[in-house]
Amino acid sequence: MPALGRETALPAALPDRRERLARVIPPMEWPVHEPLIQAIEALKRERNAVVLAHNYQRPEIFHGVADIVGDSLALARRAAEVDAAVIVMAGVRFMAETVKLLNPERTVLLPDREAGCSLASSITAEDVRALRARHPGVPVVAYVNTSAAVKAEVDICCTSGNAVEVVESLGVPRVLMIPDEYLARHVASRTSVEVIAWTGHCEVHERFTGAEIRAYREGFDGLAVVAHPECPPDVLAEADVVGSTQRMQDFVAANRPRRVLLVTECSMSDNLAALFPDVEFVRPCNLCPHMRLISLANILESLRRLEPRIDIEPALAARARLSVERMLAVRPR
Ligand code: 13P
Ligand code: SF4
Repeated sequence: MPALGRETALPAALPDRRERLARVIPPMEWPVHEPLIQAIEALKRERNAVVLAHNYQRPEIFHGVADIVGDSLALARRAAEVDAAVIVMAGVRFMAETVKLLNPERTVLLPDREAGCSLASSITAEDVRALRARHPGVPVVAYVNTSAAVKAEVDICCTSGNAVEVVESLGVPRVLMIPDEYLARHVASRTSVEVIAWTGHCEVHERFTGAEIRAYREGFDGLAVVAHPECPPDVLAEADVVGSTQRMQDFVAANRPRRVLLVTECSMSDNLAALFPDVEFVRPCNLCPHMRLISLANILESLRRLEPRIDIEPALAARARLSVERMLAVRPR
């Protein structure tokens, strides 16, 4: 098996991928990944399939087989435009469900059915109905990190990339924002709309602390700190920039900091390090156990078997789709 970085490695049509992979995958790992990448590429062609990958996916997926990558907002937008019979979501269940809502006629695959999210499992449809009863007339904004059943109960969705715009688009003095307490508090700090929060947390981002960020600043000269809004408020208070994973990438691309700390799931830094070799990424490693369930091996298996598929009951899907479509109709600033 040829080693990456010497001669043939990736299909000739993808030389940029080969170069990016060589920056993050040690040559000794290449014999494991290369046959899987080639088999996935062949099956994608045979099945008329595309792979969508979230920014937290492992580098061999993100740079090796993904056709479309991005944050939750970009993936939802691109999912609405995809022209393929089969869509593989290299991400977690709520992302695959969003893709299915926007592509009811296509086959949507999530390579591991157990790939969930602590935020999505922190609230049920029944919880939303109870919240509405407690706050009559107050619109409910749901982070996309929720199940389709929850999306079916709410007025509109948002992501970390558009939450302020979505809340303000409603033109009301008060909203309920579910399920991420820290995102809700962050939004509240950026708008005059009153935000009533649920108390869900991301199990990855809630582990960061402000003290930890201060220690990194002391240890690394000239460090730029970019934090995801799912982090606790004391972490966000220490950050130079707060934003979605796409915003993080845009910040690095535009500013090319000498050193940067991305306060988020650590595969994000691995993936960006391959794109920006001139930037030093300081990497505290908090991995999302759900995102890690996706591998080249189970992507290949899902394409072979066309399973596990995402299926959403049509009446529920119709209601949930409305909240996603309302979000997509909100103009970005
Ligand atoms: P982004 O939309 O910023 O990519 O975040 C999704 C997510 O699950 C973060 O934990
Ligand atoms: Fe959910 Fe957190 Fe994992 Fe994102 S990082 S998928 S919010 S558990």
